[in-house]
Amino acid sequence: MADALSELPQTVHPDLLVGYNTADDAGVFRISENQALVQTVDFFPPIVDDPYQFGQIAAANALSDIYAMGGRPITALNIVGFPVSTLPSWVLTEVLRGGSEKIAESGAVLVGGHSIKDKELKYGVSVTGLIDPKRIITNAGAQIGDLLFLTKALGTGIISTGIKRNLVSDELTALVITQMAALNKTASELMIEHKATASTDITGFGLLGHACEMANGSGHTIRIFAGALPILPDALRLASEGVLTGGSNDNREFLQEKVSLASSLEQTMQEILYDPQTSGGLLIAIPADRAKSFRDALKKNNLPDKVVGRIERRETQQASLIIVESGDGSDIGAL
Ligand code: CO
Ligand code: CO
Ligand code: CO
Repeated sequence: MADALSELPQTVHPDLLVGYNTADDAGVFRISENQALVQTVDFFPPIVDDPYQFGQIAAANALSDIYAMGGRPITALNIVGFPVSTLPSWVLTEVLRGGSEKIAESGAVLVGGHSIKDKELKYGVSVTGLIDPKRIITNAGAQIGDLLFLTKALGTGIISTGIKRNLVSDELTALVITQMAALNKTASELMIEHKATASTDITGFGLLGHACEMANGSGHTIRIFAGALPILPDALRLASEGVLTGGSNDNREFLQEKVSLASSLEQTMQEILYDPQTSGGLLIAIPADRAKSFRDALKKNNLPDKVVGRIERRETQQASLIIVESGDGSDIGAL
């Protein structure tokens, strides 16, 4: 997508505050001094068997880009591709029921949508949110010394592959579906309250891909403490058995020159770092002096609360955007 867009003239407008050139999650357009629209769209084919759960996950995933910017979702439109000749209509009803429940939970209002006949089922949502133009949280604002938090566990790509191959228990299947269907609403509200400097949601490019966007956007290096990352149960074991998605290799190849991994880092942990996520958590940069109260707030809301990284000075233009160490960061006294 980025390559295709680079061939076209860039959109420039005085009220376009965040466009597609900064690899941010959603676009932001100012409509008055105190208000801007945050807009995003996302859709994909089913990643789980149950149509209702698929609808929930697809909607939560689309809403996430509004939350990553610190916006408040207000309206939503459904986007549907449906194979009328091969699937009964109740399947679509269930997909839309799952989606509308998540849209309602976000506080947004479903105002319509559009469907086409398609070879395979696809569903997603276009979401519009509101934000104060002075309080937009982008990829670009992270400051040296800020500490990083990640609000959902990694490994959804690996475990989804395991589910397709019948290698995952019912309990773990239910857990990962619940996590993917969970809104990033609370995490977003907490980061706004604690004046986060930067944030992105973790989706198809994996933790390192999205962390790279933040490092690049902010002009700094990100140090990741692999030992502190929240990881779904069994994800490491499945990765060690070669249960991976095709996307993780693409991510690794694309990021190779931008990332420096500690030699002590286990191979299976690397798979977690590159694993494409569906409806992943927010990666949030918080100034060090507010990190403790942010951590307490995450804990109180049952969200992963460990410091998973730190923003550091990039010594040269050639230096790595991401440095991953195997420890949990406690040796540097991160918190
Ligand atoms: Co995103
Ligand atoms: Co997106
Ligand atoms: Co992103």
